[in-house]
Formats: sequence, structure tokens, C-alpha cells
Amino acid sequence: MRKIIFTVLLTLVFYFPFINSQTIWLDKLDLSSMSSGWNTPQADKSIAGNPLTIAGQKFDRGVGTHSISTFLLNLNGKGKRFTAEVGLDDEATSQGSVEFYIIGDKKILWKSGVMRKNDSAKKVDIDISKIKKLGLLVTDAGDGLDYDHADWCNAKLEMTGNVNSTSLVASIKHKPYILTPNPSDKPRINSAKVFGVRPGHPFLYTIAATGKRPMTFDAEYLPVGLLLNKKTGIITGMINKEGNYEVKLIAKNSLGKAESKFKISVGNTICLTPPMGWNSWNCWAEAVDADKVKAAADAMVKTGLINHGWTYINIDDCWAIKPDSHVAMPKDSLTSGDQRDKDGMINANKKFPDMPALTKYVHDKGLKIGIYSSPGPLTCAGYTACYQHEQQDAERFAEWGFDYLKYDWCSYGNIAKDKTLETYQEPYKVMRSALDKVDRDIVYSLCQYGMGEVWKWGDSVGGNLWRTTGDINDSWSNMSGIGFNQAGHEKYSGPGHWNDPDMLVVGLVGWGPSLHPTRLTPDEQYTHISLWCLLDAPLLIGCDLSRIDKFTLSLLSNDEVLAVDQDPLGKQASRIFNESGKQIWSKDMFDGSKAVGLFYTGVDNKAKDPADYFNWNKIPTKEKITLTASELGITGKFKVRDLWRQRDLGTFKDKYTAEVPYHGVILIKVTPKNK
Ligand code: GAL
Repeated sequence: MRKIIFTVLLTLVFYFPFINSQTIWLDKLDLSSMSSGWNTPQADKSIAGNPLTIAGQKFDRGVGTHSISTFLLNLNGKGKRFTAEVGLDDEATSQGSVEFYIIGDKKILWKSGVMRKNDSAKKVDIDISKIKKLGLLVTDAGDGLDYDHADWCNAKLEMTGNVNSTSLVASIKHKPYILTPNPSDKPRINSAKVFGVRPGHPFLYTIAATGKRPMTFDAEYLPVGLLLNKKTGIITGMINKEGNYEVKLIAKNSLGKAESKFKISVGNTICLTPPMGWNSWNCWAEAVDADKVKAAADAMVKTGLINHGWTYINIDDCWAIKPDSHVAMPKDSLTSGDQRDKDGMINANKKFPDMPALTKYVHDKGLKIGIYSSPGPLTCAGYTACYQHEQQDAERFAEWGFDYLKYDWCSYGNIAKDKTLETYQEPYKVMRSALDKVDRDIVYSLCQYGMGEVWKWGDSVGGNLWRTTGDINDSWSNMSGIGFNQAGHEKYSGPGHWNDPDMLVVGLVGWGPSLHPTRLTPDEQYTHISLWCLLDAPLLIGCDLSRIDKFTLSLLSNDEVLAVDQDPLGKQASRIFNESGKQIWSKDMFDGSKAVGLFYTGVDNKAKDPADYFNWNKIPTKEKITLTASELGITGKFKVRDLWRQRDLGTFKDKYTAEVPYHGVILIKVTPKNK
């Protein structure tokens, strides 16, 4: 008997740690709080979406990220071992170099040393018992974060007892709070103050104005060829003569009258302020159809967003015909079948039965409409695209009545012979010259994710805007990674040619058909909108407008905030301060003031000690940020106005300090006293 008891006890002692332990894979955790210097960390994929590969070795599991990347896990002393194989992903070019750190309660437990391309994966196997917080860090190894695609392969935590994996990841829930005051009942004109059009091309501009209805509109000194509908404020027509025309716009209602100067520039430059509108991709993706596009246009009017200057209703991918995937695509003969008609003109699919009727529907509301395609044979989602039909497609888009073309890169990668700048530029030049031959102004948006530093040449190939990044999604790491990495691009942006850090991820998003509320906290959403406005970014709402909630509407209808984006000077903000998880961005405005964003990002991207990349204690809710006059290049006294709250904060001398919420922003307008 004693022997049996002894054997049972021995077995228990031997097996207990195994019974009472749990394996948690890193790729199964909610990665939304893993920060990444570029793009979004993904489970079982590299940061660019490829299979995880280090020095030729493929891994089925793990997490691909990009320096600088942090991920803080609450182990609460329940950890046992952490194992992984780490290295630079093969998709990075030879310039990439990273250093992995595993930090337990502020102490470095393991570090990889500098790792470069073709270094075999390094094995990590460390004791994490008694550790309360475990930080996984990838630094840029001190040489800037370019091409630092870093992989945590086969990464897993051995834990004691039953651990709820959601409790491992720090997440904070916040209630939405509205800052935007309700617009006054008195008229206020909010539409862009400058507008470019080519001579002899159709003109469409809607005077966007808030205030009580009914409202009537007027315009003084309107150039010959234009007609204003006084009830709707929609101006249409055509101007034949080049030149600058100074117009006075007027909006009147029972409570008063608003006037606004408006400059029409007739020449070869269009898109003088960043486009503002809606795009189908971030909500509907492949589930888009004509009814959803119409619903977006209806909602733009019904919600009143049109009165704040929102203009475009853009169809993204998935409107053309998708060739059967089992049919091999002959490279040079895409003219057969119903993807194109017998003359090679592109057709829309069944979900878009009447494109001209759809564009008319949108135009009749005073809005504009956009379309999408790619220079390759297929779009990114596999639909027929423009390759070798560029001129016909430009003509088709014009004939259908489109005002905007987003032109992607997908599948052109198979056509491109190399990775030279010339090859990157070629397809965009081809479409530019095709668009130049149609008698319609079509805003030209390049979407090739920043390859070949497109910001340096997007203007020279005739782009009105160009994507500077990969795709955005609704996580803090992705949105803030994209937004705060725009520093330095400002010198390439200006009226008619804008940097595009991708579309907005507020409201109900989801890449269709099912949608979810954005995963960004309210403060992160304030950061998103404020930063995009400071960056003079095209503002394309990516949510289902027909189900927009009050909070999202408030984010998108603050006229003083939107005026930062639409400022006629068109000077993108520069980052003027970046330390200890605090950043200040400043943008020169037309009236001599400066729009300034004070951001508390929470993570120090230039930390000296690896442990300083993390917030080890309870995440602070607010932090003081001080802006000095000298940082802004001004002297003496200055006035400060809070733009979200639309409230004057007073006059300050030398410096101004604000309390900024974690991951949030205080957006102000600073006006030197002598202005
Ligand atoms: C991606 C692009 C997205 C969306 C998508 C459509 O390349 O970045 O914004 O347009 O293609 O397939």
C-alpha cells in the first residue's frame, strides 16, 4: 500500500508541472497593442504579409513585426519559459538590421545582438518565472528603422496554471467623449477656399455651409461660364479662359449671413486642397455594390457631412469583372469575354449595372465620385485592370463621369522588369498621359505604398496624391506607426500634390461584409484625425456612413479642425519635438498662425535604455507637454485656441503647457500677438 501511495505521489510530483502548465503562442494573442515602426504586426506572416522566413528557413508560426516594435505582456509571476526563434525576415533588403530584446521587469533577460539579412534564426529559451511584466522589443540596432522586418518565430510562453490569454495583453477601454461643439444656427461657409480646374473642363463645386435651413446662396464675381444654384449652393458650368478668379461666396438664413473669399484657379493644377470624401474599401472591400455607394452619398447629405466640405464618394476595388480564377490569363489579350466589350472598353460587373446613372446620382447631390484600378492586368483583389488599355480606360472613366482615379500597383509587379525608379514610374506616366487626353478633370491618386520613395517623384509623374505607406488598419500600432512616420515628407507636399498616409479608420469598419466599431480608442481617434489634418492628408472616410454614430460624426465635422487640413497654403506639418513618448507637430497656416498638435504617444522611440521603450507601471492617463515659442520660431506673446473644443485658451508668453491624454492629442492654433 505504502508503495502505491509513494508511486502516486511521485507521479504527481513528476507530472504536476506539466498538467498544471499551459502553452500560449504569441501568434494567438491580440496583437493590437504590439507597436511596429511600419505596417501592422501579423500572426504567422511577415510584416509585409509573406510567409515567415529567416535565412531561407520557413516558419509556420510566429509574429512578423517591424522595428521599432514593443509588446508588453502581463505575466503576473505565472510564466515559466519563453522560447522563440528570431531574426530579420528575408523580405527585408540588405539594409535592414535589428536587435531583439526580452526584458523582464525592466531587466534585460536576453538579447540577440545586431541581426542582419541572412543571419540564421537565433534560438531563445529563457526562464521567465517570477516575472510580472515581460517586454518583447525589436530595436533598429541604431541605424534607423528602414527595412527592419523582424520575426518572432515559434514564439510561445509556458505558463503555470490556467491563464486567460486576454489578461496577458494590456488593453485599456475608454468611453467616447465628444469635443466638437454643435455648429451654430448662423451660417458659416466651410468649403475649400481655393479650387483648381482646367479650362474647358466641367466644373462642380458645392458651397458647403452649416447653419439653420432654409439657406440661400449667392456668389459675386463668378466667372463667365459658371452657374450657381441659389437653393443648393451647387456651382456648375465650365470656364474657358485660364487665370485666377476671386469670388465672394455668400450663405444666408433667417439668422444672418456669412461671406467667404473663394479663389478659382483655371490652369493645369487641380486638387488645390487635399480631397475629402468617402471610400468603399475600409468598410466594404469586396462587398461593395452600387446601392452601398448610393447609400454613402445619401448619408453624406443626410448626416450633414456635406456641409463641412466632404465631397468625394469613391468606389475602390471590385467594381470590374473578375476573370475566372481557373482561366489562365493571357498576358496580352484581355479583350475577350465580357471583362471588356468587343472594342476593348472595360465593363463593370453586375453589382454596378449602370455606372453613368450612378455618377449622375452622386453629382446631382453636389458630390463627386471616384473609381479605382491598377496598371497591371488585374487589381489587387483580382479584377480586370488597365494593362494595355490605359487610354481606353481613362476614356471610359471620363465618359462614365468619374472625377477621381485611385491607381494601384498590384499585378504590375509581374510586368515590371526590375525595381528601378524608372520602372516604378512608368505605369503612372502612362496613365497620366491617358488622363491628359480626356476632357474631364480626374484627380489622380497613386497607390503603390511608397515604393521608390514615391513622395520624391509622385508630383513629377503628375500624381495629385500618392500613398506613402502600406495599408492602414484600425489598430493603434498601425495607425500611429503610419502617421508618426510621415516626418520628413513635408517638403514634397503642397497644393495639387499631396502625401497620402491612407484612409481613415474611424466608425464602423471591417473590409466587408461584416463590420465592427474601430478598435482605436477615442483618444487614438482624436490623434488620427488631428494628425491627418496636420499632415495635409487626403481625408477619405472608411466607415459605413449610413450607420455613423454621434461620436464619429463629431470627429468628422469639426470645422476648425478640418480647416487645418484644407488650409489654402497647403504646408504639411513638421515634427518639431520627439522625446520620451511625446511629440509636437507644427504646420504653418495661411493666416500667419500655426496649427500645432501635442501628442502623447506613450512610447519613447529613441529610448537610450531598452527598458525605457515600455510603460512598466500602470499606463499613465495624462502627461504634461510643453510647447516653447522658440520651437515654433516665434517670439513674444501668442494666443492659443483649442481647435477641437473651439475655445480660446488665452495669451501666453514663451511657452504653453497642456495635459495630453495617453495616445491622445491637444490640437491648438497658435497666433503670434502681432498677427
Ligand atoms: C490595396 C490598397 C487598398 C485597396 C486594395 C484594393 O493595394 O492599398 O487601399 O485599394 O488594394 O484591392
